[in-house]
Order: sequence, then C-alpha cells, then structure tokens
Amino acid sequence: MIERLEELQQEALQQIEKAGDTKELEQVRVKYLGKKGPITEVLRGMGQLSKEERPVVGQKGNEVREAIQERLEKKTKMLADEALKEKLKNETLDVTLPGRPVQRGAKHPLTSVVEEIEDIFIGMGFEVTEGPEVETDYYNFEAMNLPKDHPARDMQDSFYVSSDLLMRTQTSPVQARSMERHQGKGPVKIICPGKVYRRDDDDATHSHQFMQIEGLMVDENIRMSDLKGVLETFVKEYFGEEREIRLRPSYFPFTEPSAELDVSCGICAGEGCRICKHTGWIEVLGCGMVHPRVLEMSGFDPEIYSGFAFGMGVERFSLLKYGIDDIRHFYTNDMRFLKQFTRV
Ligand code: DAH
Repeated sequence: MIERLEELQQEALQQIEKAGDTKELEQVRVKYLGKKGPITEVLRGMGQLSKEERPVVGQKGNEVREAIQERLEKKTKMLADEALKEKLKNETLDVTLPGRPVQRGAKHPLTSVVEEIEDIFIGMGFEVTEGPEVETDYYNFEAMNLPKDHPARDMQDSFYVSSDLLMRTQTSPVQARSMERHQGKGPVKIICPGKVYRRDDDDATHSHQFMQIEGLMVDENIRMSDLKGVLETFVKEYFGEEREIRLRPSYFPFTEPSAELDVSCGICAGEGCRICKHTGWIEVLGCGMVHPRVLEMSGFDPEIYSGFAFGMGVERFSLLKYGIDDIRHFYTNDMRFLKQFTRV
C-alpha cells in the first residue's frame, strides 16, 4: 500500500508539473485529493491491515496528501505570478516614446509691440486708457480742431456709419475724452493704443485698418522740452541707447507747433541706406504742443495749462523692430509668419 501511495504521489506531482493553468490544477486536485480519488480508495483498504501497519500507512497517506497539497499551492502561486508578470508586461508604458508636442501660441507681433510701448510709458508715469472705435464726428474731428469744412479732414478719408458716426480715423479723439474726464484739472498723462480705420487701398505700406498709440500730457508749465525729453527716453528704450532723435516742423490741426519725430537709422547708423532712403533718418511719429483751442474745447484753461501730444503707428514700430517688409503680414494670419514670433 505504501508503494501504491508513493506511486500516486509521483503521478500527482507529475500532473501538477504539467498543468498549464489553474483549471488543470483544480482537476488534478479533485482527481487525487477528492473523496472519490485513488488515495482515499487506498486508505479505505486499511481495515484489512494489522494494528501495527495501520498507523504507518495512515501516516504515509497523510504525508502524500500534504505533499500534493503543498505542491498544488506552490504551483497555483507560480501560475498567478506568471499571469501577473504577463499582464504587467502587456500594460507597460513605453516612457521612451516621444510625447505629442503641445501646440504653443505666440503673441501677435503688434500685441508685443503695444505691450512693450505701454510698459515704457507706464514707467514714466503714464496711464493706459482706451476709447471707442466707432466715434462721433465731434470727438474724431471737431474736438481735435478739425471743424466740418476743415481741409485737413481730407488727409483722413473715413468710413462713416451714419452722418454723425464714423470708424475713428485716429486715436486722437481719446485726448478729448481723457481731458473731459479730468474736468479741467491736471495732470493728464495717458497713452491710448487702439485700432483706427481709413478708406485706403491696401498695399505693402497701407491698410484700411491699422493701430495707433496716442499720447497726451497736460499740466501747468509743460513745455516743448518736456515733449522732447519724454520722446527721447521712449525712443532710446524702444530702439536702443545709441539711437538719436530729431524733431522736424510739421502741421497737425490739433497741435501748435507741430513736429515729426525722426529716429537715426538703425541699419546704417545715419550713413544713409535703402531703409532710410539715404537720409540717415526714419520718421516714426507725429507730435506737438496741444493747440489752445483743443485744451479749451475739452475744459482746460489754456492760460493755466499746456501740454504735448503724440501719435504713432504701431505697425511701423513693429516693421522697424522685426524687419518686416509688408504691413499686410500683420492681418493675413499666415501661420508661417506668426510662428516666427513664438520666442518674442
Ligand atoms: N492723429 C495723427 C494721425 O493720425 C497722429 C498725431 C500727430 C497724433 C500729432 C498726435 C499728434 O497726438 O500730436 O496722423
């Protein structure tokens, strides 16, 4: 009987060894350890044994059962481990796979220029303000000393919305609006960036819609030297310390005297080149001392107050800084153009 039991143990262990999954293991368990299994059967025959043999065989039977049981457990655990390993292997993330790049936007070159210029003037104590793009004839023209029959209105062909409303042709109306808000009391120190509109045919240097930044400083004792100092500080901060400025007499209805501000050419350093049309200078903005009538119309006493104003085209500042050759690039939203500014 002992031999038979040992045989059965061998058999069972072999089958456990061969079993490839938990289902097969379960079959082995039922087959050898079940109530109807061969071991039980062998042990049932113990009745015929002598008193001395019985415990020996009984003990052997237990040993065989335990050995099979133990091996079954081991194998079950092994199969579970293998299954887990396999699962982990299949679910592994390949961390070396390159990620999908995040699409980064870029600031529009006009936005960066506006922000940069704002920062410079904020540094000099100016406040950033805004005004409406659909403007009344009064603010756009009359309050700027351009009465209805003034010939200088021709300089700015306009888009009228109604007989009294138009798309503003300049940011200058914000001068009047800001002064009105201050109710005749200085100081007024504002800059105003914004869109303006003119009836122009679009080409490399013209656009029916473009951007300006207006500046105004009104207080007691403001002189032309203040205008020059503020604009020189601005130009040197924006274009570079080495750049020079020059004021050239000009005409604007809302300033007296009026001037154009030129900056020494950054390409040829004043020698003369294609960019500055061989003059050594580049015109960048219009400016002047606020006309007494403009002060008066907006509630400031020209006997007490004086001021200066300036207006610049943002596109021009951007063209000059980034070497862009066509104003239309700013408005056609060509990604190849815009992507060049991701690092600006
Ligand atoms: N508004 C003028 C234009 O559109 C620019 C300008 C010139 C603004 C002189 C000013 C100034 O404030 O003083 O052409």
